[in-house]
Amino acid sequence: MPEDTENARPQPKPGVMDIHAYVPGKSAVPPGVKLHKLSSNENPLGASPKAIEAVRDVAGRMEVYPDGSAARLREAIAEVYALNPANIVCSNGSDEILGLLTQTYLEPGDEAIFTEHAFMVYKIYVQAAGGVPVEVKEKDERADIDAMLAAVTARTKIVFLANPNNPTGTYVPFSEVRRLQAGLPSHVLLVLDAAYAEYVRRNDYEAGIELVSSSRNVVMTRTFSKIGLGGIRVGWMYGPDHIVDAINRMRGPFNVNTAAIEAGIAAVRDREHTAKSVAHNEQWLTWLTEQFRALGLRVTPSVGNFLLVHFPDDGRHTAEAADAYLTARGYVLRRVTGYGFPNALRMTVGTEEANRGVVAALTAFLKG
Ligand SMILES: Cc1ncc(COP(=O)(O)O)c(C=O)c1O
Repeated sequence: MPEDTENARPQPKPGVMDIHAYVPGKSAVPPGVKLHKLSSNENPLGASPKAIEAVRDVAGRMEVYPDGSAARLREAIAEVYALNPANIVCSNGSDEILGLLTQTYLEPGDEAIFTEHAFMVYKIYVQAAGGVPVEVKEKDERADIDAMLAAVTARTKIVFLANPNNPTGTYVPFSEVRRLQAGLPSHVLLVLDAAYAEYVRRNDYEAGIELVSSSRNVVMTRTFSKIGLGGIRVGWMYGPDHIVDAINRMRGPFNVNTAAIEAGIAAVRDREHTAKSVAHNEQWLTWLTEQFRALGLRVTPSVGNFLLVHFPDDGRHTAEAADAYLTARGYVLRRVTGYGFPNALRMTVGTEEANRGVVAALTAFLKG
């Protein structure tokens, strides 16, 4: 065997080793302590019971390949959202679609724009495609449309807008999204990542359906993860014919597995479970925001199923110390240093027990 030097082994293409791999939310607590995982924006009410049943029903036919076009899932989504199923592509979580979009539309050296605290996966996929990530400043922890438009150059190929964004939970009203699209050259792809759309309760919010339907350069990405199917991996994109056609050429032939297809069909039709989940979120998001503010903590106003809590600069009650204190008691939140918030924690809205537990623990922590 030749000597194992760098040059004597297969080399990843340029840029790959510059990628910082995504770090998922933690879920480990000390032995004997009850875990409340509030680090991955999962649904505290769990999956739709109908989706669970649907997955059980297909367990007996694992040997059969799935329908590669996920036709029944696309039809179910289309029916619920009043869309044309031909304009939907399903995927292994919406992450997969984000990766396919960068692989399809970015050439090495092309630029992709997103905001400074945007969902971290954009940067990873842009780098993976050999593209150049262009991070734009936010205003009050919210996407700044003027700054995004000002960052467009002749090399820009994609603009990502997480609406609402993770980890801030802030959103951009539809009038502003429209202004962004109107200001982009028509060959630049605008990706509206509406992963948390189900949870948004604002009259001036629109996930992107209208803009996709009325333009040639916009796609909307969605996921079932936040409404209870994070583990089974199912997401989708709604886009114009020409983009759907390109993505269908790039994706794996059976990218959505049978269980994910069946779970998705059942979940999208289970409006009752979605409504229950959204109502729970609305109640506890408001309560948690009020409680944290009453403790003197700054909370970024969120419309998602999570909230970003900022800790004092007193050197004692830091986010790092709070994280250790909470984890020791079973409450696992998310550190967001990598997102540019070294002194904040992101908390998923949990069960009543978890929410009350975190507030009680933080009350004690801040007194200490
Ligand atoms: C803004 C945003 N987009 C996309 C995703 C991807 O979700 P999934 O791949 O589970 O569909 C997430 C998940 O954390 C997210 O926060």
